[in-house]
Amino acid sequence: MWEYTDKVLELFYNPKNQGVLEDKGESGVKITTGEVGSIACGDALRLHLKVDVDTDKIVDARFQTFGCTSAIASSEALVELVKGKTLDEALEVTNKEIAAYLGGLPEAKIHCSVMGQEALEAAIYNYRGIPLDVHEEDDEGALVCTCFGISESRIRRVVKENNLTRAEDVINYIKAGGGCGSCLATIDDIIVSIQREVTTSQASNNNPGQLAVKALTPVQKIALIQKVLDEEVRPVLIADGGDVELYDVDGDIIKVKLQGACGSCSSSFATLKIAIEARLRDRISPSIVVEAV
Ligand code: FES
Repeated sequence: MWEYTDKVLELFYNPKNQGVLEDKGESGVKITTGEVGSIACGDALRLHLKVDVDTDKIVDARFQTFGCTSAIASSEALVELVKGKTLDEALEVTNKEIAAYLGGLPEAKIHCSVMGQEALEAAIYNYRGIPLDVHEEDDEGALVCTCFGISESRIRRVVKENNLTRAEDVINYIKAGGGCGSCLATIDDIIVSIQREVTTSQASNNNPGQLAVKALTPVQKIALIQKVLDEEVRPVLIADGGDVELYDVDGDIIKVKLQGACGSCSSSFATLKIAIEARLRDRISPSIVVEAV
């Protein structure tokens, strides 16, 4: 027996938005639908939106679902969340918001909220004449889970959007892996590859200079040193009547000539270490040593 919140049960027992919105030729409004899932998988949702053409606002919404308690409650939540929103605002609604509106869903039922978000996207893309844009993209990757017909690109998207870390989470979110289980090892590999990508990109963002230098040729390294000096160091020194010139680079030993007021200043050593060496260490490599010639 699943543990459902009172809100889930309330919406399941008293759904207010089930049904169809038919196009009756009303002026100023258009009906669009979005459909996800399949009866073969045990869950399917068709969402109907009535859109005010002038304002792009969703003035009414209905749903049909073949799903369980959570699918009905998630669809109800989705309709309540999107009514009155513009299409752009509605596209911002995430499956997390749907689950939060319900006070949470059992882990194994999170896929119901994902289905709601995907039906919403499908309906809006249909309205805009770019049908199933996102889902077509999802279908481009190799098929990973043949039991549920789920591609690699769709798994990657859901893992990234929800920071999933286990194959079990993927089952809960989109069912992939929840049948015969033969794709679970591939799903694990996909998760690991995404985690590696995230780690690499975070390291790159935290210290772009240090990562960049690993791939630099000696000429590129000198150019980067010159760039840091020209853009970040020299303007400060020039403002104080001084200047610095790059003299030589030998590995991580960088030789510079202090000029103007910096050359004769009693604090020139501090200038060398704090204004120049610390900056180059920060931007390029912590092992850099700056010497004056
Ligand atoms: S192939 Fe994915 S569960 Fe069977």
